Amino acid sequence: MFRLDGKVALVSGAGRGMGFGVAQCLARQGATVVVNDFFADRAEAAALALQNEGLLADFAVADMTDRQAIFEMTAQLVQKHGAIDIFVHNAGIPAQGWGYSKFLESPPEEWDSWLQLNLHGLMHACQAILPHMIENKWGRVVAINSDASRTATGMGLCAYGAAKAAAIGFIRNLSGEMGRHGITCNALSLGTMNNWEGSEQVARKTASVARAGSPQDVGAAVLYLSSLEAEWVNGQVLPVNGGSLVS
Ligand SMILES: NC(=O)c1ccc[n+]([C@@H]2O[C@H](COP(=O)([O-])OP(=O)(O)OC[C@H]3O[C@@H](n4cnc5c(N)ncnc54)[C@H](O)[C@@H]3O)[C@@H](O)[C@H]2O)c1
Repeated sequence: MFRLDGKVALVSGAGRGMGFGVAQCLARQGATVVVNDFFADRAEAAALALQNEGLLADFAVADMTDRQAIFEMTAQLVQKHGAIDIFVHNAGIPAQGWGYSKFLESPPEEWDSWLQLNLHGLMHACQAILPHMIENKWGRVVAINSDASRTATGMGLCAYGAAKAAAIGFIRNLSGEMGRHGITCNALSLGTMNNWEGSEQVARKTASVARAGSPQDVGAAVLYLSSLEAEWVNGQVLPVNGGSLVS
């Protein structure tokens, strides 16, 4: 079950962190995985690490907020690999710089950077990639989201949470247009992940599975939603959070 042999997956922001875990998991199940990142060295090193494991991997450098760059990358990848069967929009923390700030002190440019990457980047990529999936009558879109879309963290995440909530609204509506084409569109809602300082202490207090989440936890959930077996799961948001939020 859950094999992806012959499928081509594009994972945005996969040069490190959760995205790399997703890329590794999909590649270990047989997919050819394209590692996208804003930073060329990061994307290349990640693809090389997968290749060194004997996996099928490529890389593509593009800023996932840049509509033209996304369309060019898509055209190049379709020409090179024949298809993009699976698209995972993981890039969500702006590479060009960002900050968490209390709402009343946050400048509008800061709101924009979250929206550009988490909402518009996802929408641009879907407009670029979905026509190819429709042609192939098969596809999987998975958006990496966050429990910040539905909680009051008090941590200066208003703009981030708003952008993530908007992306969920988009994915749910998109699923209604794509299901009939054999394409499913789903999201993961992540809790406290293990790639920032202090995350273990936070997770121990908030998650019933008392640890921070790993890139492998994210990869396994994306694998399920990307699989042939999950063809009847559409428009859903799957929490992957150690049980920290259960409704
Ligand atoms: N880390 C957490 O605790 C946490 C919690 C909930 C949700 N998430 C979500 O998980 C996803 C991954 O987060 P992470 O912590 O692994 O991030 P990260 O910062 O460790 O890695 C993200 C990668 O995305 C790349 N990137 C950033 N902007 C880009 C752009 N415009 N174009 C292309 N690539 C770009 C970065 O260069 C980086 O390599 C995000 O969507 C984030 O919102 C993370």
